[in-house]
Amino acid sequence: MITTEQPLNVAAARRHFRSLRREVDGQPLVYFDGPGGTQAADACIDAMSAYLGTSNANTHGPFATSLETEAILDEAHAAAADFLGAADPAEICFGLNMTTLTFAASRAIGRTLRPGDEIVVTRLDHDANVAPWLALQEERGAVIRWVEIRAEDCTLDLDGLGHVLGPRTRLVAVGLASNAVGTINPVSQIAEMVHSVGARLWVDAVHAAPHLPIDVAALGADYLVCSAYKFFGPHMGLLWGRRELLEELPAYKVRPAGDELPSRFETGTQSHEAAAGLVGAFRYLAWLGRTDGAVLDEPGDPLPGEGSNRRVRLRQAMERIRAYELSLLPRLIEGLQQVPGLNLRGIVDPARLAERCPTLAFTLAGHTPEAVATFLGSRGIATWHGDYYAWELIRTLGLADSGGMVRVGLVHYNTADEIDRLIAELHSLTR
Ligand SMILES: Cc1ncc(COP(=O)(O)O)c(C=O)c1O
Repeated sequence: MITTEQPLNVAAARRHFRSLRREVDGQPLVYFDGPGGTQAADACIDAMSAYLGTSNANTHGPFATSLETEAILDEAHAAAADFLGAADPAEICFGLNMTTLTFAASRAIGRTLRPGDEIVVTRLDHDANVAPWLALQEERGAVIRWVEIRAEDCTLDLDGLGHVLGPRTRLVAVGLASNAVGTINPVSQIAEMVHSVGARLWVDAVHAAPHLPIDVAALGADYLVCSAYKFFGPHMGLLWGRRELLEELPAYKVRPAGDELPSRFETGTQSHEAAAGLVGAFRYLAWLGRTDGAVLDEPGDPLPGEGSNRRVRLRQAMERIRAYELSLLPRLIEGLQQVPGLNLRGIVDPARLAERCPTLAFTLAGHTPEAVATFLGSRGIATWHGDYYAWELIRTLGLADSGGMVRVGLVHYNTADEIDRLIAELHSLTR
């Protein structure tokens, strides 16, 4: 049973990230750089170290370390399927990162296209969900159609999507949430529109994954990609696709490699230590989503053996995270709005915060984004500046020549005190 009445215990959660004890000039380092990569949970770090220390081997050998490696890979696929709500662990394919997986899968999808087939991309997306599709124009004669944004709140123009969809549309590539301005796109609504013309939906969930429960079936996605280093795990990418689609795609693979899933899309030797770390990260999240009412068991405790329970716990963890992040968001938005000369982009209406992640981007009059981020960095606060590869968005907002924006991203280990420190430093900069 899902019990949401037990809120996230942020102090307990923070104890499972050794990096949060890091100081700069005698003050704890504030990690508002989560959209670029979160801190790794201790359970992830320990699992990677344990794998390399005791189980390191290649797969398919008739000896202990190889068998252990295969068991870890199986566990990683099963846990990832639970995290994403996938029907089958074989539908999860690992790779170096989201960008590499998207380039590989889009090449395979390209092999199925005819000249004049249409691909739809958006101005809101990270370029890793744009450039691989644009390349199909040159390679396969595909026609690229664009979905524009409404600049006033950085949301997708869904009427525009309706206009570009048609009988030649083969695929629509859209993000679940924007890594620049935090907008959450109505993906299940988009899925209905896409499927009504018989096209496929490719969802980039990299930014959403540390913030929201993800259920590929409820979203109506055909493919979904994310990256574990954005949700407290190691540097690795995850591709989920509906089994029948992944099975029929003409994958690029070496001849002796198996043609079954997931290996047909897992090219070469994977990062086994990252798979171990991924299991560790999910163990941490499953601890965070414990449903038994225990006050604080250790994240290293064995997960309940039954997969369905892990699925419930992972979902519960993400619901707790979401509720906690939403509780912090008004403090951050209101604090930023009180800084003189600060111009916040994206959704700021207090009644619409459920439409966004706690990822805020702004400009500050009289200071370049780089100068603001550098100042904050010198005060022990990690933020990003520039375009963070949301290249089309920054150009559409007319900010490409002025250095983009400053980006502050909260995740569940951030606190109200850290927000107050950020706001105080911004006031001191403007004074
Ligand atoms: C929304 C989004 N999509 C894609 C990517 C690329 O992910 P990766 O680094 O795993 O290739 C990022 C990375 O910042 C991102 O934020």
